[in-house]
Amino acid sequence: DLEEDLDPRPPVVTIMGHVDHGKTSLLDAIRAANVVEGEAGGITQHIGAYQVAAPSGDLVTFIDTPGHAAFTSMRARGAKVTDIVVIVVAADDGVMPQTVEAIQHAKAAGVPMIIAINKIDKPDANPQRVRTELLQHDIQVESMGGETLEFEVSAKTGEGLPELLEGLQLQAEILNLRANEKRDGEGTVIEAQLDRGRGPVATVLVQRGTLFTGDIVVAGAEWGRIRALIDDTGKHVPYAGPSVPVEVLGFNGTPDAGDRVIVVPNEARAREVTEYRARI
Ligand code: GTP
Ligand code: NA
Ligand code: MG
Repeated sequence: DLEEDLDPRPPVVTIMGHVDHGKTSLLDAIRAANVVEGEAGGITQHIGAYQVAAPSGDLVTFIDTPGHAAFTSMRARGAKVTDIVVIVVAADDGVMPQTVEAIQHAKAAGVPMIIAINKIDKPDANPQRVRTELLQHDIQVESMGGETLEFEVSAKTGEGLPELLEGLQLQAEILNLRANEKRDGEGTVIEAQLDRGRGPVATVLVQRGTLFTGDIVVAGAEWGRIRALIDDTGKHVPYAGPSVPVEVLGFNGTPDAGDRVIVVPNEARAREVTEYRARI
């Protein structure tokens, strides 16, 4: 359906890898170096998903994931909302159980992978060992004659980060990602919690269409009228389009990570859908 595929949209990139291999540090470093304009000093991460402007001006949406084994299911979902997976492997530690798990998720989802060999600044960094270990998991990186892009990076010094971003953009261009921003908003809950002051807060990745303040939305067994949309810099915004991660306020209850978010025409319909779902 061509109507569905009109507008180019930014790639959604999920960062996965073993615990403490530097996923969050990498994102922080990328964000600090590529803050979206008008956001001076605003590098505090409000949500685990955000957009940066690459040097070309094109936006890239990143989703952080924890490496702890308890979050296996979250990584599984990550592979469904994502266009590209960056597998972070610490150069001093090598391929570890959650690295393998992340590789398997990306393969199962058929999502292209890019390897970031991190902590290259460390004296005991051994990127060549990482490449060899990856071979055991059927990943042949470019420098070894394969097709998987790999970058040696350091979240600490910033080395290799511009190249990594370039690689992501290259991969994104090949994917030719599009969505129709004019239809009703639709997306996925990335994370959600009950906030003492603000009530249920859901971080939603919009995937098609545009979400507006005032929309009536359903997510899993919960619904609500959107009271506020807050972007990754903490700013209230009137709407959010494809590939934009946004905090949604106004749900009557706390939805679950992974729940689909859809817009419905009225409150009666929202009640009908959620009451039906509560029964099954
Ligand atoms: P989880 O979310 O807990 O799985 O960890 P993570 O993968 O997000 O790793 P995190 O960013 O929390 O970093 C773990 C530790 O590694 C921290 O102490 C970082 O300072 C350190 N670290 C991350 N990247 C680098 C790097 O490039 N060089 C060095 N020397 N240390 C790094
Ligand atoms: Na950590
Ligand atoms: Mg982390």
